[in-house]
Amino acid sequence: MSPNSSISDLGRSAIFEDEGKLDVNYVPPTLPHRESQYGSLLQTFRGMIDTPGKVGPKAILVGSVGTGKTALSQRFGMDLEASAKERGGLKLRYIHLNCHLLRGSLSFILSEILSRFFPTFPRRGLSSEELLQTLMKVLDEEDSYLLLSLDDAEALIQREGPRSLYILSRVHEGRLNKPLRLGLILILREAWVLSTIDKATLSTLQRNIIRLPPYGRDELFDIIRYRASIALRMGAISDEALSLIADLCAHEGDARFAIEILLRAGKYAERYGAHSILPEHVREAHGSLGYPPSLIDYLRSLGLHEKILLLALARELLANPEKAYVTMGDVERAYALACEEKGEAPRSHTQLWKYLGTLSAIGLVSTRISGEGQRGKTTFIGMPYPADSMEKAILEYL
Ligand SMILES: Nc1ncnc2c1ncn2[C@@H]1O[C@H](COP(=O)(O)OP(=O)(O)OP(=O)(O)O)[C@@H](O)[C@H]1O
Ligand SMILES: [Mg+2]
Repeated sequence: MSPNSSISDLGRSAIFEDEGKLDVNYVPPTLPHRESQYGSLLQTFRGMIDTPGKVGPKAILVGSVGTGKTALSQRFGMDLEASAKERGGLKLRYIHLNCHLLRGSLSFILSEILSRFFPTFPRRGLSSEELLQTLMKVLDEEDSYLLLSLDDAEALIQREGPRSLYILSRVHEGRLNKPLRLGLILILREAWVLSTIDKATLSTLQRNIIRLPPYGRDELFDIIRYRASIALRMGAISDEALSLIADLCAHEGDARFAIEILLRAGKYAERYGAHSILPEHVREAHGSLGYPPSLIDYLRSLGLHEKILLLALARELLANPEKAYVTMGDVERAYALACEEKGEAPRSHTQLWKYLGTLSAIGLVSTRISGEGQRGKTTFIGMPYPADSMEKAILEYL
């Protein structure tokens, strides 16, 4: 806060109009650049309000981190619930559950749903099949319909196997002449999980796979400009600062990271008493965030020598602060040193290129080829995150 500000200014932010609108759990009224996926959901599920009881639609949302899967499902579910209400009180509920938080257990998931209908519903004692039958009975009795969204569904498949999906997707079979009451959205981060599911289950699910590709740079720009417009005071951020956020996040295409940077840059601007968010605040925010939290999961999953290679790259970048990229030769030297430090025998040149391929596929390193078309083209290697925090994070997991 500037020394000139008066006591009446206390508590009133020069930057934020409504900070809550940048909260991770806030679901915005619209989702720019997800219009076609929203349209697909509408096409798939509109039968639930147009001809209730006649359809039990299912869809799978697939996309990597921060591509808007959770937000899209919630926006759509809330909208569908609202339009059901408008149609003369059709009882349709949208319930969004995170399978990971419910430890991937089908019976925890079903108990949780039942407890939304009856807060005192006993949480133990019944099998998944019995719980599912109970749920259908409750829906019948209340003449209600349920759109269930299972987020992070990998957790469910991992713990219970594909049979859990089979049970859910075939719930209406064996309920002859009764209304279809359940619509299902499965949210997955990786499409390959689908290949672990058996044909019979897949055939009931696969018709509606809705993909959310990583956002491009310009899409991220639109998204954060929109979020800024509802969360910040007018003029509190320039297009230049927004543009920088989009550049910094373009590699990942992760809207969550972009919004986190926006929020944090706003905090820095506030702290320094600025009237608007400047590029320097953005850089500082980006540096302080370091890497999206989910990357820690990736780090954990890396092999020892992949970690050492990444450590070597981080150190090489730190040793050359003016450079955005270094050569494989540079990295290999730093890698040999790091191996010595850890008492490990260095892997071969060929093997290191393979590791690099993996790291680059995950997005932990970025590569650039120079002198293409010339003889002796060189691969340059960099990383989209501050080398400093990367080094610290790796050392933690080594
Ligand atoms: N098109 C969009 N417009 C506005 N905000 C968006 C858009 N897409 C995503 N967001 C916002 O970005 C953040 C991340 O989105 P969301 O949580 O839906 O991603 P996700 O795909 O579920 O990621 P994860 O795989 O990590 O769970 C949220 O705050 C969300 O509101
Ligand atoms: Mg999500």
